Amino acid sequence: MLSKKVEKALNEQINAEFFSAYLYLSMSAYLNDISLIGFANWMRAQYEEEKFHAMKMYDYVLERGGKVKLKAIETPKHKWKDIIDVFEDVLNHEQHVTKLINDLVSLSIDEKDHATVHFLQWFVDEQVEEESTVSDMLAQLKLVGGNGSGLFMLDREAAQRQFSEPAQ
Ligand code: FEO
Repeated sequence: MLSKKVEKALNEQINAEFFSAYLYLSMSAYLNDISLIGFANWMRAQYEEEKFHAMKMYDYVLERGGKVKLKAIETPKHKWKDIIDVFEDVLNHEQHVTKLINDLVSLSIDEKDHATVHFLQWFVDEQVEEESTVSDMLAQLKLVGGNGSGLFMLDREAAQRQFSEPAQ
């Protein structure tokens, strides 16, 4: 059984994961609009990944006999200055999500909910990977100055990304 505090916090995190999905979908539309089709694909895969995060948490709340309470999803930004601006936002956002996950782990420890602490470990590891992938991408974009043939090459590479659900 989940404590009310943990149940509430997990519901808030489900909302945060859906917001992440929404934000990345909005970025995907913007990138499509500025003809960076490969990066638009990359961001759409990121959207799929965030939906997976939200649903993983949703399923966990139900499995523990908790109540899922979905709330309104905040409106994401629609416009950025350029591709570097987009990836700076992604990195800031992922750092923010890492903090939310860490707070959730701390709360679960305080509540002596070891099952949730264990469940959240997957998200802790995932955040390390996400922050690292995004900072690498941002560094490469800065290296090519966010334009020209370097950007064209990175866009072609980004076109290869596909989301597949990790094995449970
Ligand atoms: Fe669900 Fe990108 O963290």
